[in-house]
Amino acid sequence: MGVRIHIDAVGNFRFVYSAADADSPRLFIGSHLDTVPNAGAYDGTLGVLLAVALLQALHGRHFPYAIEVIGFSEEEGVRFSVPFIGSRALIGRVDDTLLNTKDALGISVREAIEHFGLNPRGIAQARISSDACGYLEFHIEQGPVLENLNLPLAVVEAIAGQSRMEFTFTGRANHAGTTPMNLRHDAMAAAAEWITAVERIAKETPGLVATVGSVQTMPGAVNVIAGEARLSLDVRHPDDKVRAKAVEQIIHLGQEIARLRGLSIRWSEQMSQPAVAMDPFLSSQFEQAIGKAGCRPHRMVSGAGHDAMIMAEQVPSAMIFLRTPGGISHDPAESVLVDDVAKAIEAGLYLLDQLALTPIFQKRTCRA
Ligand code: HGY
Ligand code: MN
Ligand code: MN
Repeated sequence: MGVRIHIDAVGNFRFVYSAADADSPRLFIGSHLDTVPNAGAYDGTLGVLLAVALLQALHGRHFPYAIEVIGFSEEEGVRFSVPFIGSRALIGRVDDTLLNTKDALGISVREAIEHFGLNPRGIAQARISSDACGYLEFHIEQGPVLENLNLPLAVVEAIAGQSRMEFTFTGRANHAGTTPMNLRHDAMAAAAEWITAVERIAKETPGLVATVGSVQTMPGAVNVIAGEARLSLDVRHPDDKVRAKAVEQIIHLGQEIARLRGLSIRWSEQMSQPAVAMDPFLSSQFEQAIGKAGCRPHRMVSGAGHDAMIMAEQVPSAMIFLRTPGGISHDPAESVLVDDVAKAIEAGLYLLDQLALTPIFQKRTCRA
């Protein structure tokens, strides 16, 4: 397409499709390029490729706004337990605390950026400029809703807030054969009791999801009672107050289990991301475009986090979901239907034309 591609200082992949005339506002369209371990091929990447396909479908047409396509790095937050590093750089939220965060091997974000051949001192240049007037993200739903409704597309009204934490139960490692059951301070057994209690709290709280995705125990030998168990926790809800109350309950439960079993417990919070509403104007434009593409638009809340929740802090942002067959995601079985992708591109083209005809859109600037 004759565009100049560059990789910014946090590893975001970016290029600008020029406006019909200079000094025009800039619309961002993108998603993330990283994945979870053993992932599917569509979470994130589909949104970047769909943006490229949209521009190719323009066959050289330009608008009274530029379009910057962006492939974000490090949205999942698997390596450093802190997500959204790429999109946080665009709104100026990559600080020393984040750059000094280390992965399991003790490598910091700053060192990882340098090892990749980029210069962390250039991070400030990754920020969006004041001409940013919107951010759009196409993404798979990653759940069962659209499939159950037999609909290809949805407009995302809001993105649920999420807490990411780490809990450590510390007991007493001992001999598995000689230590009577009533004299044990078994960190693995305490963790197991706590994990099922977390699940019960989530089942009892409407709209709440809570997940213990990883457990590491020390020393991890078959014939040694676990002295320590380190667990991850992911809690999400569309209402931040409900999420905060559930986190409080989960902490209290951990303290009770530790006390009754003669263990200690400590915890740390890696992230508390508030729930974010999408921009009403852009969402209504998306809804109109989906209708023009011949689909009944459905509105829904996203349980998954997305870069749109970070961009929305400074730029009017909106998301469109594509149906996820089987509701399976974060797994190689993740898929999309080609017809749904075609519908998303068709709706996207209607949307770009609609935005070109609404001067209000072009006058809105970012809340930098
Ligand atoms: O974890 C999430 O919500 C998303 O996949 N980043
Ligand atoms: Mn994901
Ligand atoms: Mn994603």
